[in-house]
Amino acid sequence: AIERTFSIIKPDAVAKNVIGQIYSRFESNGLKIIAARMTQLSRAEAEQFYAIHRERPFFNDLVKFMISGPVMVQVLEGEDAIRKNRELMGATDPQKAEKGTIRADFADSIDANAVHGSDAPETAAVEISCFFPTLEIYTR
Ligand code: CMP
Repeated sequence: AIERTFSIIKPDAVAKNVIGQIYSRFESNGLKIIAARMTQLSRAEAEQFYAIHRERPFFNDLVKFMISGPVMVQVLEGEDAIRKNRELMGATDPQKAEKGTIRADFADSIDANAVHGSDAPETAAVEISCFFPTLEIYTR
């Protein structure tokens, strides 16, 4: 089915100047960018976005990293978009990510892992609505 998923290009990948290379991978794999914006997350936004991880030992470092510089936030649409995006990203830990995935090619560590992508339809819907009002999502 045609799905939408939420994606973040994290501060490490923005700093490395590889936004375009990552967008190319989305586009050449059938994912269409239907909303996008550059932003620097506030601490409150990052904490809210990652609230599900609040009790995890990596939470503070994760939030600190995510607010360390600008990010690109986007909505991707396409057939099986959630799974496809996760496939393109590779494993969370870049050391474990398969060759040719975004994280294997651009990421340095489990926090500085280049991209975030929603993991399920429910989280995709919540994450999209956190960042984009319906009016800013362009379907045609
Ligand atoms: P992301 O998909 O953005 O969702 C949560 C983030 O926490 C994850 O990518 C990683 O960047 C970061 N993280 C740091 N340590 C861990 C860990 N041990 N397990 C999962 N995620 C981690």
